[in-house]
Amino acid sequence: MAAEPQASEELVLAFLAEAGDEFVSGEAISDKLGLTRAAVWKHVEALRAAGYRIDAVPARGYRLAAVPDRLTPLEIRPLLNTHDLGQTLHWYEEIGSTSDRAKELAEEGAEHGEVVIAEAQTAGRGRRGRAWVSPPRRNLYFSVVLRPELPPARAPELTLVASLAICDALRQAGVAAGIKWPNDVLASGRKIAGVLTELAAEPDRVHWVVVGAGVNVNARREDFPEELRDEATSVLLERGQAAPRALLAAACFTALEDWVDRHAEEGFGPIRDAWRARSVTLGREVRVQEAARELRGVAEDIDDAGALLVRTPAGVERVLAGDVALLRPR
Ligand code: BTN
Repeated sequence: MAAEPQASEELVLAFLAEAGDEFVSGEAISDKLGLTRAAVWKHVEALRAAGYRIDAVPARGYRLAAVPDRLTPLEIRPLLNTHDLGQTLHWYEEIGSTSDRAKELAEEGAEHGEVVIAEAQTAGRGRRGRAWVSPPRRNLYFSVVLRPELPPARAPELTLVASLAICDALRQAGVAAGIKWPNDVLASGRKIAGVLTELAAEPDRVHWVVVGAGVNVNARREDFPEELRDEATSVLLERGQAAPRALLAAACFTALEDWVDRHAEEGFGPIRDAWRARSVTLGREVRVQEAARELRGVAEDIDDAGALLVRTPAGVERVLAGDVALLRPR
């Protein structure tokens, strides 16, 4: 899908953002973007009305002084470095679950790469029917529609692809993140992000996959319910400093597209290697809770389908789905 043309307002914003702390003259903006000076002024006013602080100084021009902490296309699209992913962005101030909305859109024909993103969720869902804590304007809650050419049996690989991408985006943001099998992203041994993958398929063909991700960005300790306070963390808690959510969203989308493309072109091999390099599970003693059994042993590897291989006293067991607890602190 081709990227939609950017509105002039977004282009003015991107131009100002690129100049950073520098002033840019109205003339430079109008020449570069082919707009009249009056049009540039009108766009600057519209951006101010949308919450952007833009200084205007005679003879020097305009300077972007502050951006609103919001996740609309206006904030995210100028930061994106993708061909498809996030170019169509459905933004909600509040929604039940971005994954529920993305599934509806997928059924209605949404294209590969369309994203639903919300400032808050009232019914955020985690794996195994758990709730996902989704307080307003603190974190990232988004769901991506993918249309991979994959047999359904290989769709679980995309869960590892997504956790890899989010781990990389968090590392770029200065968080020492790692992945706990299959798709929990941890920092300092606590959960900082989670991925939920859902799909619709026929026996031989995937119609769509919705990858839903929750990333704890600026959540404070008190934003988590008491029972999660020792288990959950955020970029703010790890770095001691708030992070711009739009920047992190754009980094997640860019990393996700890079890894999804690599998976489509080269298969699971490179994903498996990259996942192993970021794993905090392999080599650790683990307890695995599957639907019908519990295992204890050492997590040895993931196989070429992404299943976890656990060495137990009875031999190596292959785990396709389950919850993993890391037993001994390293
Ligand atoms: C997990 O670790 O249990 C997965 C959590 C996934 C949460 C995200 S938040 C955005 C999207 N919408 C949902 O309802 N769930 C996912």
